Amino acid sequence: MRLDKFLADCDIATRSELKKIIKAGRVKVNDEIAKDPAMKINEGSDSVTLDGAPVTYEKLRYFMFNKPAGCVSATRDKLSETVIAYLKEENIKGLFPVGRLDKDTEGLLLITNDGPLCHDLLSPKKHVDKTYIVIADKALSDKDIELMEKGIDIGDDKPCLPASLGKIAYDSQPMTYILDAHKDDLSEDGEEVFNGSYPAYSITIHEGRFHQIKRMFEACGSRVLYLKRISMGKLKLDDNLAPGEYKKINLEDII
Ligand code: URA
Repeated sequence: MRLDKFLADCDIATRSELKKIIKAGRVKVNDEIAKDPAMKINEGSDSVTLDGAPVTYEKLRYFMFNKPAGCVSATRDKLSETVIAYLKEENIKGLFPVGRLDKDTEGLLLITNDGPLCHDLLSPKKHVDKTYIVIADKALSDKDIELMEKGIDIGDDKPCLPASLGKIAYDSQPMTYILDAHKDDLSEDGEEVFNGSYPAYSITIHEGRFHQIKRMFEACGSRVLYLKRISMGKLKLDDNLAPGEYKKINLEDII
């Protein structure tokens, strides 16, 4: 593998910055100063240092991202900002989001360059649990909850797999977003009505159908006002990450 690719994969800097770093003599391979970015190295056996510190090859990368509303779960988009744009401090080459959250959905999104892991997590056969916080405009009845728990029909070939859900008390943190997104829907005393009085649920599903949660609520005559994913499999959204923030994680945090 080329030395500059090795260092770029390790997230040291972009390829063009690396050229300068290498030309400046800051990188050593097996204790010899490396001058050529195209130099071939063996990532398994050669020892590489930058400014004297060892560089360990880290090919696969994983980031936990708290997606804010307003950006799209894609690597490129002509009209909207993408989730990848939030990782501009990183070497974003090869990174992609695992699955999609709607543009107006917030919360946990895994971003990686690990294709096989992505395939496994999204495989309909694997039924990876995904938990969301929902704030809806109308409370679900006991019958609605029972329907969702049995597997609600949302107009696809097959009903959804059984979901688990429960009503929760939700703090006021996301209310600003609902207010902004739906303020035209609210009555004049809307802000008052809005103040914590909308029903909130925690719901866990095992599939990833298009707009699944919104359609499940719609099938019960209720509209989702706010949606946030808080976990996917064993990965839980870190409460310390504000919307738009991300952190590096390890494979062991995910599976
Ligand atoms: N269900 C939805 O309706 N939207 C999402 O973004 C995720 C799940």
